[in-house]
Amino acid sequence: MTTDGMPRVHALRRGVPGRLPLVLLHGFPLDHRMWHDVTDLLPGEPTVLAVDLPGFGASPSGPDVAQALGADPAPSLEVMADGVAAALRGQGVERAVVAGLSLGGYVAMALVERHPDLVAGLGLIDTKATADDDAARRTRLEVAAQVRAEMRVDRVLGMRTTLLGATNRVTRPDLSERLERWTRDQGPLGLAWAQEAMAARPDRTQALRAYAGPAVVVVGEEDELSPVAASQHMVDALADARLVVVPGAGHMTSNESPEPVASALQGLLARAQRADAAA
Ligand code: MLT
Repeated sequence: MTTDGMPRVHALRRGVPGRLPLVLLHGFPLDHRMWHDVTDLLPGEPTVLAVDLPGFGASPSGPDVAQALGADPAPSLEVMADGVAAALRGQGVERAVVAGLSLGGYVAMALVERHPDLVAGLGLIDTKATADDDAARRTRLEVAAQVRAEMRVDRVLGMRTTLLGATNRVTRPDLSERLERWTRDQGPLGLAWAQEAMAARPDRTQALRAYAGPAVVVVGEEDELSPVAASQHMVDALADARLVVVPGAGHMTSNESPEPVASALQGLLARAQRADAAA
């Protein structure tokens, strides 16, 4: 837990001073540990900071972060993004390449909208810019209510059976077990708050249209939760985006096929570094 009420930032690697750091935002219902598979493959130069989003891992709860920010305590991705920005600034990070998977991508897009000066490069992995439809929103709110009532994460596990792609659901029981373990490590109240925050999120296509910096969009070809078409939509909205479609991976590309994700992030860091140097 942090002492300033802000999300916990884990320094996975201290790199070369003066280079843009890489900030990684995890998916639901996980925490910063999901990034080790990717960062183990990144060459040594960048500082790598992996955040536990509010209510996950070692971070304070969403309501506690909202209180520390003096913000509306209602569950929202805006509180998550403002908390991440404040935590990074608290560590002296004013500019970074920001990449997020799924929920982490929603938060990265909220950062682009609310803290544009922070984002020197944008990585969007297995995520989408559009809001939930009514049915998806209703399901999230029902799940949140049940998790709060039972104070158990089992209903969340029940709704996350399609995290891995169809191929790896059969061939990678080790990954299924790891994801279940990480999910069971999270507190039920944090998961409920995040479901409510995601249910309330707006469409952020316009925020992507307004973003001029370098971007990469990565998606598993077998992603059933944020399919390839959702990635194409984000690429079309962005001014300078590359699309990487990863064969044989589902929604957890970072762990199902970490090599192409590491290579996409390495390319993004180089492009952002060049763009910042030229500015
Ligand atoms: C995630 O992996 O973070 C989730 O799929 C996000 C969501 O539920 O929309």
